[in-house]
Amino acid sequence: MRRLLSFFYSIIHLHPQNPPPFLPTFSINPSFSSTFSSMATNPKGPPPEESSDPDDLLCSLSQPHPNPNPNPTPNHSPLLLQPRDDAGSRAERAWAHWEGLGAPRLIVAPMVDNSELPFRMLCRRYGAQAAYTPMLHARIFSENEKYRSMEFTTCKEDRPLFVQFCANDPGTLLEAAKVVEPYCDYVDINLGCPQRIARRGNYGAFLMDNMPLIRSLVEKLACNLQVPVSCKIRIFPDLQDTIAYARMLEEAGCSLLAVHGRTRDEKDGRKFRADWDAIREVKKSVRIPVLANGNIRHMEDVHSCLEHTGADGVLSAETLLENPALFAGFRTAEWRDCGNLDESKNGEDGGLDQADLLEEYLKLCEQYPVPWRIVRSHVHKMLGDWFKVHPEVREEFNRQSKLTFEWLHDMVGKLRNLGGRVPLYANATSTWKATENGFPMSSS
Ligand SMILES: Cc1cc2nc3c(=O)[nH]c(=O)nc-3n(C[C@H](O)[C@H](O)[C@H](O)COP(=O)(O)O)c2cc1C
Repeated sequence: MRRLLSFFYSIIHLHPQNPPPFLPTFSINPSFSSTFSSMATNPKGPPPEESSDPDDLLCSLSQPHPNPNPNPTPNHSPLLLQPRDDAGSRAERAWAHWEGLGAPRLIVAPMVDNSELPFRMLCRRYGAQAAYTPMLHARIFSENEKYRSMEFTTCKEDRPLFVQFCANDPGTLLEAAKVVEPYCDYVDINLGCPQRIARRGNYGAFLMDNMPLIRSLVEKLACNLQVPVSCKIRIFPDLQDTIAYARMLEEAGCSLLAVHGRTRDEKDGRKFRADWDAIREVKKSVRIPVLANGNIRHMEDVHSCLEHTGADGVLSAETLLENPALFAGFRTAEWRDCGNLDESKNGEDGGLDQADLLEEYLKLCEQYPVPWRIVRSHVHKMLGDWFKVHPEVREEFNRQSKLTFEWLHDMVGKLRNLGGRVPLYANATSTWKATENGFPMSSS
């Protein structure tokens, strides 16, 4: 198994510090469940003494959902591109589809190794209205049954869902997309990955050098899928190039465009502010729904971004990793005093903290297993602020090569006992209220 993981890792490694996810909790191919259960270990996590690998798999007792909703969400009209379609009617259908999904505005961005099923479900409980899968490699997905079954995990409640692929061959992309289309609301093409691995593999943002190829990828899906095609792009340094690019995508059959307001060279999101002006110009230039991405750190950002860009929704990535309750109106101490908040709106202790969220995430991992590697990554992100106060607990966590849920819950208990709780802040009137099943009902 370890060799298999390293093999996949070596071919689709995207973020050098973050290897991609591989293992399923819910397999789209029920026949895989027997294969998988033979690979699986105990749901409470592998017994430390028996495991030789810190990234040992969490097990799967959770069965593939018996009815994984193989039909697209109601109100989906087939969006196959018709030969005589004009731009107007295509845009109308794109909007009908978007509105049929409830016009989601608060969306979990695609994140390799991080926007996996349990994390998506956690964010959905706290206000996220739609989510992207991590990027899947279309060629490997279409060639390799194990990768396919292990990489794409979902469940009935995991909707609306964008399934994202990277690809550079239209036929291969279509083959991969056909497998997932019954389980998602958009098949998304990653045109924004700026990493070295994407340069070597010739996908993501490096396709920006080959517009005819991008067009052919979009057209292939738009002409052959029942679900619509969306694209996630980066901007060009020159605004006119970005606008021409967006229009080309729309013309090729793209039904929704997510615009990350940074160029291919602006890799560091902390260093480069996203260009919301460019997103606004794209929004003005196309007729399909447009989502804005970049610098969404709290709900004030959501409101100002939507107002500034006119976009139809926002994606958040990095901040959501630290604060999965961002879309429910909670903010971390770092952002508490930022933005245009007046003192009265500055937010009180919201009665929720990152350790609460981590514990909820761990429970979701028991329900929807993922590799420990992914759990570790989320622990670091969600408890980062707590670890700053108690670095000795972080060190102990790092030294623990074999994890179990019990150990992690104990660690959270220890942090709490040590004191120095770091709350999430919220305005009493602006938070989502979770229902008994954990799904939000309303916001103000
Ligand atoms: C850990 C991580 C993994 C990511 N993986 C993907 C990915 O698989 N596909 C993609 O299109 N973008 C990916 N991104 C980029 C984000 O989706 C997003 O475009 C970027 O982080 C900017 O949003 P932010 O300012 O809210 O972080 C990733 C970002 C992070 C932090």
